[in-house]
Amino acid sequence: AGTGQFFVGGNWKCNGTKESITTLISDLNSAKLESDVDVVVAPPFIYIDQVKSSLTDRIEISAQNSWVSKGGAFTGEISVEQLKDIGCKWVILGHSERRHVIGEDDQFIGKKAAYALSQGVGVIACIGELLEEREAGKTFDVCYQQLKAYADAVPSWDNIVIAYEPVWAIGTGVVATPAQAQEVHVAVRDWLKNNVSAEVASKTRIIYGGSVNGGNCAELAKQEDIDGFLVGGASLKGPEFATIVNSVT
Ligand code: G3P
Repeated sequence: AGTGQFFVGGNWKCNGTKESITTLISDLNSAKLESDVDVVVAPPFIYIDQVKSSLTDRIEISAQNSWVSKGGAFTGEISVEQLKDIGCKWVILGHSERRHVIGEDDQFIGKKAAYALSQGVGVIACIGELLEEREAGKTFDVCYQQLKAYADAVPSWDNIVIAYEPVWAIGTGVVATPAQAQEVHVAVRDWLKNNVSAEVASKTRIIYGGSVNGGNCAELAKQEDIDGFLVGGASLKGPEFATIVNSVT
């Protein structure tokens, strides 16, 4: 870890019930969390209000998605205005499951990021390559293309955290090695330096996601350019999530 305050997000994805979330909230409320870490959880939309009303203010709330423009006649969508209304400070955008399962493209994701930022909601901007892209030596190209779509759309990087999540590592138990993650994080920072500004490159936190757990977080957190984590499966277990938060170095 090297840039800014360590940032750990828990992406609960499409998991949980009122009951399981009650347990998770109580585990999180009683966990000891290092004070110099930004901690965020992203529940499914329908549980955000429950989480907001019972989770400690120490932990901020993120949504897992948001609509691309002001709310209105968009059946089934949730607007950024609504997220703000219920106390969401952040939204995860460009997650691989939305890119590859739902089919969102770079431009649409860029627009969503710009709209969320315009309303004062911070963006956890995900990028990451598929296994076949890595095997074809295209990891950097894919990440650069995804970064460019954000950069072309957003007026400022002040309220953005980049999450590098190699798709082959998500939910597979195959975590990137510290060296593999560090290599891409450095490339992302260089890209920002060359294409946005040296200031943005040095200030923007780049967090890693993909099979992070209580056992592998400490080695990853030691890497100079890993500024935190975006955690899926392990964020559904309060004590393990706390271990990951506390891996800050
Ligand atoms: O957004 C976090 C995520 O995609 C990683 O999921 O379950 O591999 O930690 P997981």
